[in-house]
This record gives sequence, C-alpha cells and structure tokens, in this order.
Amino acid sequence: MKKHIVLLPGDGIGPEVTKAAKGVLETTAEQFGHSFTFETHDIGGAAIDNQGTPLPEDTVAACKKADGILLGAVGGPKWDQLPSHMRPEKGLLGIRKQLGLFANLRPVKGFKPLLHASPLKEEVVAGSDLLIVRELTGGLYFGEPRERRNNGAEVVDTLAYTRAEMERIIDKAFQSAQVRRNHLTSVDKANVLESSRMWREVVEEKKQDYPDVHVEHMLVDAAAMKLVTNPAYFDVIVTENMFGDILSDEASVLTGSLGMLPSASIRQDGLGLYEPVHGSAPDIAGQDKANPLAAILSAAMMLRHSFQMNNEAELIESAVNKVLEEKYHTADLKLTDGVKVSGSTLAKKVSEQMSSHDTTE
Ligand code: NAD
Ligand code: IPM
Ligand code: MN
Repeated sequence: MKKHIVLLPGDGIGPEVTKAAKGVLETTAEQFGHSFTFETHDIGGAAIDNQGTPLPEDTVAACKKADGILLGAVGGPKWDQLPSHMRPEKGLLGIRKQLGLFANLRPVKGFKPLLHASPLKEEVVAGSDLLIVRELTGGLYFGEPRERRNNGAEVVDTLAYTRAEMERIIDKAFQSAQVRRNHLTSVDKANVLESSRMWREVVEEKKQDYPDVHVEHMLVDAAAMKLVTNPAYFDVIVTENMFGDILSDEASVLTGSLGMLPSASIRQDGLGLYEPVHGSAPDIAGQDKANPLAAILSAAMMLRHSFQMNNEAELIESAVNKVLEEKYHTADLKLTDGVKVSGSTLAKKVSEQMSSHDTTE
C-alpha cells in the first residue's frame, strides 16, 4: 500500500523523536512491502525562525493532502517572550483547529517490563490500561474573548463550547468504550462550571444510544486523585480540552515516563495527526537523550487508525515490548538495572527487533 506522510518535527527534542519514528516506519514499509513517502514541514519555533510564523500556509496545505501526519513537539525558551499569537504553541493549536482534529486519544498502558519504573507502587500500577479521550478544538484553549483589559489590571479567558462540539467527542468516547471494557468515566467540574453542567446533560442524553456502556460522572479533582491511587479502576475517560491535557501528563506516571505516552488527534473521516504527549523538553534537547518511544508508538497509532494496518502497528508495539524486556531504556526511565542507551540507539533496537521477525509466516 502507498501512503504519503507529512512530518512536522518542530522544536527541541521534536526532530530527534520524529527521526526515530520515521526510521521505524521505514522498517515497517520494508517488512510489509508498503511504500511510505515523506515530506517535512515547519511548525512552531522552527517555523517562526524560518518563515516568520508558527504555522506557515504551506504546512497546512501539505497536511490537508497527507494520508497521515506525525508531529514531534513545539516550543522552547527561545520563543517564550513572544506575544501569544506568535508563540510556537499557536502553530500546534492552529493545525489541530484548521484540520478539525477534535478527538485526542491518549492510551495509557504500562509495558510489563516497566511496571517497576513508575514511582507509584507496583501493586497500584498493575492492571492499569486506560484511554483518555480529550476534546481538542474547543474550551479555554480557543474561547473568545481572551485579552488583557483596563491597562493590564484585568484579564479574561473564555471557556466556550457548543452542544454539537460536546456531542461529537462524547459519541467518540462511548464508541471507544464499546471496543474496550464498556466503562466510561466522564470527568468535569459540574459543581462549579456551567459548561460542565451542560457536558453532563449531553452525556446523560447520549447514554441512551449506548445501553451496553456503563457510564458515570466524576469531578476532575477526585479523578486526579483516583488516577494515582486506583488507576486500574478506569477504562475510558472523556473530558474537555484542558482537564484532558492535565490528566494525561499525570497518567503518564503510571507508564514510568512522559516519554512513553503516544496520542492520536483525529477527526471522523480518518485523517489524523499523531503526536507524543510530551513537549519539546528543552532541558535534554540536542543530546540524544530523549525517549523516542512515545513518537514511535504514535506512528503505530497512525498505522492502526489512519491506514488500517493493524498487524503493522502490532509488530511495532511488540518490538517495543521486547526491547524493554531486554532492558534497553533511555535515562528518563528510572530503572535500577538494565542498559541505559541513547534515544537513537533505542530506536535502532526497535527496528532491529522488527526486522528479525518474519512477517511472511
Ligand atoms: P515537556 O513535556 O517538554 O518536559 C517535561 C519533563 O519531561 C522534562 O523534564 C523533560 O526532559 C521530560 N521529557 C519530556 N519528554 C521526554 C522524552 N521523550 N524523553 C525523556 N524525557 C522527556 O514539558 P515542559 O518542559 O513543561 O515544556 C517545554 C516546552 O514544550 C514548552 O514550550 C511547552 O509549551 C511545550 N510543549 C509542547 C507540546 C507539544 O508540542 N505537543 C506538549 C507539551 C509541552
Ligand atoms: C499537549 C500540549 C499542548 C496542549 C500545548 C503545547 C499547546 O501540552 O499536546 O498536551 O496543551 O494541548
Ligand atoms: Mn500537554
């Protein structure tokens, strides 16, 4: 099968982890006889430096024509003082919005060899396998007005949602629960926010359409606590944009590192932007220390969700598991034993593991 993939490496460790994921995709193509072509475009700080804007038009145009998009990360101290419309993060928010990628799927599943890599007790982490379905193109991130007022004496951000925006993400979450363990936890702050009260209403209406799914409501503060005390309780969590952002970094602790968490930002027709949950990690950028597995697992999500290549995605995931079983890891994983390697070496180990597998069996 022929597929055209747009790479958006971005800033900091973004280019390192994107290169690693591209290598694994090339190995996949060789193993299964596919033809993947790649085209690289600017986004974020790199786009500001090269083209004077965090989201150049040619980047958007290329993404619209792509079969799949793989992003590294954006942002960094170099651009932190720019006005908000010129920040690297605006590039990422802009591409999500312009492509209508409203559903951000963030699976949190610990690899067995890393059970003891989490700072949480092994018996707490054991059995956890959850999916955060985060609304991605509404809420506080996009609401207007957002401005300083009164000569800087006041500021306003707006949390706005339409009912239709809530309905489509809640539908997506119910459908995700149906192909998992039929348990949906809707997370909100309905004891304070009007938007959360409407969110609850929509969940209550929608549950009639999914009688096989057990659904419940949970306040976000309590959910944050339960995520680290009883994570195995959860199957699918659905929540609005900002709550989902915060809870997913928290949930990454279960897997041993933020560098392990992949995500898919998708819309109904199958187009997707695949992005690790982590950021540009300026503290380790350029040192080949970054864990490439979040990006590699994001590439696997692209194969599964956008290309319907399930066997290919599984080969990548099982190669990652095998490499971790062999105790290879990057420095972010706090393991007392094993072999600490660079990010590029870890990615190479994954490709080697894949190549040793006979896909013609
Ligand atoms: P971060 O996720 O970049 O880093 C948080 C911590 O996790 C750091 O200690 C970092 O070294 C570590 N870390 C992250 N990814 C890692 C990996 N793959 N391997 C090993 N260690 C890893 O968050 P931050 O420091 O708060 O933000 C830095 C910049 O990244 C900011 O400009 C922020 O806006 C941006 N950011 C971008 C994205 C994105 O592009 N998707 C996501 C989050 C943050
Ligand atoms: C993420 C990031 C982004 C977000 C930032 C960089 C805008 O934190 O993808 O989780 O908040 O969505
Ligand atoms: Mn985040």
